[in-house]
Amino acid sequence: MKKIITLGIESSCDETAVALVRYPNDILASQISSQEKIHAAFGGVVPEIASRRHMEMMVSLFNSALKEAGIEMDDVDVVAATRAPGLIGALLVGLSFAKSIAYAYDKPFIGVNHLEGHLNAVHLEHDDVAYPHIGLVVSGGHTSLYLIKKFGHYELLGATRDDAAGEAYDKVAKLLGLGYPGGPIIDKLAKTGNPKAFRFTRPRLGKSEAFGIGELDFSFSGLKTAVMQEFKKIANSDGTLSDQIKADMAASFQATVVDILTKQVLLACKEHACKTAIISGGVAANSALREHLSLACKNEGITVHLPAMKFCTDNAAMIAYVGGVRFMNGQRDTFDLAAKANEDICI
Ligand code: KG4
Ligand code: ZN
Repeated sequence: MKKIITLGIESSCDETAVALVRYPNDILASQISSQEKIHAAFGGVVPEIASRRHMEMMVSLFNSALKEAGIEMDDVDVVAATRAPGLIGALLVGLSFAKSIAYAYDKPFIGVNHLEGHLNAVHLEHDDVAYPHIGLVVSGGHTSLYLIKKFGHYELLGATRDDAAGEAYDKVAKLLGLGYPGGPIIDKLAKTGNPKAFRFTRPRLGKSEAFGIGELDFSFSGLKTAVMQEFKKIANSDGTLSDQIKADMAASFQATVVDILTKQVLLACKEHACKTAIISGGVAANSALREHLSLACKNEGITVHLPAMKFCTDNAAMIAYVGGVRFMNGQRDTFDLAAKANEDICI
């Protein structure tokens, strides 16, 4: 039986990406164009610029993906694109492009939730991820824990009450004058710093039904404020810090984030009797988190699957994977499917 090929399109934030995946997880092509350098000058993603850049890049990435896979559109069976959540203008570029291609080549079309893409990125390289498992999406826009009983079944267990972990990385990097995006820069700098130099307070979220706070929720804005206050206390009169103190601060901040994320994953595994966990999203590319979580899970007898770095950050292979599985499960979407800035995937 011929295995279907899915064309996947991703444009929810500042990565334009096109991939071709043969069902279920044979990656024939994965093209990604990052806009990081363009947005760095502004210290964050500028939505209007992101949309325009997606427009400029999409067609050439599409052609490069077909070339990389050595196939033509006639060989493609289904077109899948991210429809939500994300920057609405950015989403519309990829979604409209995918619909146009599907219409022009008379192919079925499927809209995919970006978070579902992240939660399934792990399947691109692992055939043996056991269900049920705990999934952590930790990126610039999200820090959410899910219980995943099977493909398509995602129960939200907890989420950030304020900033996402990636957002905290980006804001702390800005404060320290390190540039954008903060995650990879702090990751690298932290290797030269002392993670015990500063002791930043952990958020005390304690379960509170009255405030709708669960014990698997997260909070990062207090940590960001704590770094800011420490910075003000010790910065030179011209607002600068020595390179070593910056590295110590980056390492101490990172150690706190890694500790919070790891503890919540372990707690979720314990509460839901799961022996398998997966992580995804840009912050899942963090070297300290990967190391610390792997060790902690090993000590608890939990198998943790970490997608390759290139599949942690935004990519279209994860979208094509989800589109392919949904297509095989019988899903088809119509061309009036709308893009949505916000949409969770709870069942
Ligand atoms: O998943 P992603 O590419 O886009 C979103 O959907 O948000 O995640 C981007 C976020 C940014 O906040 C970036 O600073 C962070 O992921 N990030 C990292 C690392 N690489 C990217 N954070 C920590 N360590 C990294 N190595
Ligand atoms: Zn993402």
